[in-house]
Amino acid sequence: MNDNKSTAATSARVSKSSVLDRALVLEMVRVTEAAAIAASKLIGRGDEKAADAAAVEAMRRAFDELDIDGTVVIGEGERDEAPMLYIGEKVGGAPGRGPKIDIALDPLEGTTITAKAGPNSLAVLAAAEEGCLLNAPDVYMDKLAVGPGYPEGIIDLAKTPTQNVEAVAKAKGVAPGDIIVCVLDRPRHAAMIEELRAIGCGIYLIPDGDVAGVIAVTDEDTTIDMYMGQGGAPEGVLAAAALRCVGGQFNGRLVFRNDDEKSRARKWGIEDLDRIYKLEDLAKGDCIFAATGVTSGSLLDGVKRFRGGRVTTESVVMRASSGTVRWIKGEHHNV
Ligand code: FBP
Repeated sequence: MNDNKSTAATSARVSKSSVLDRALVLEMVRVTEAAAIAASKLIGRGDEKAADAAAVEAMRRAFDELDIDGTVVIGEGERDEAPMLYIGEKVGGAPGRGPKIDIALDPLEGTTITAKAGPNSLAVLAAAEEGCLLNAPDVYMDKLAVGPGYPEGIIDLAKTPTQNVEAVAKAKGVAPGDIIVCVLDRPRHAAMIEELRAIGCGIYLIPDGDVAGVIAVTDEDTTIDMYMGQGGAPEGVLAAAALRCVGGQFNGRLVFRNDDEKSRARKWGIEDLDRIYKLEDLAKGDCIFAATGVTSGSLLDGVKRFRGGRVTTESVVMRASSGTVRWIKGEHHNV
């Protein structure tokens, strides 16, 4: 993403008057930095749980430093499943008096990647005014994304992968076989990959980490035109928040494997189980997206540790109302 790093978004702007204070935008980076630095100690150590736990604890502590009355709406799981950063947990140092903010978070997006020292693991969060982020249950989501600059509605999950590629190729002025599609490397995507390869598409397979995978469509340098396939629904909301800030289009549809998953969705107020969600349905109003790289990848450099205890981080923070995108290099000591 590097050459585009100062690019401000061209997406539709929303009102600048929101409870999301400007100062909060930069404060959010402290939170993702803290989680990334903590997780980085476990890079390549083969212990996914320890890496995740370290990120969760650090992120939880960092939230306490913020003057917000925050509520986790997408987190580590439901209250009985997660000791910290569970859905509904209050975070922030100003309960009852600070701005009421809903937070979607993934302290370590890419636990396996971190354990194996693979590419693109992130500490990531999105923050929005109360009620503006979809309270997505922890189920799968069919995802389809394209970068900025295409006519609204060019992608449609109700259509086939081939039809979507053909539409994007036509608008881009290239042949379908020139389109590059990013897909999570999973057996469940075999038929889709076969279909896409049959029309000549290049498939950019990623081992994990579809938040970075979706965001990659917004960056010409990645050469990725589209994102397709099934991944976590919470990650879908996080990626949608980023696209709200930098532009691009997204379709998401929840995927239920059993009745238990359906009843969980209903518990969160989701009635139309087949609904195709667009960006504004997942993250509306003003919102902030922040991420810090844990391991290096297409979006961000990972945490690096140097002699003498110096630690460097790279983060990105974006805001929908202004479209500003900030790339922040951090240098830390004694962490
Ligand atoms: P974790 O950080 O929870 O391991 O998620 C990594 C991830 O690759 C996500 O980016 C993606 O949405 C999801 O897992 C896909 O799920 P699965 O591994 O079950 O296919």
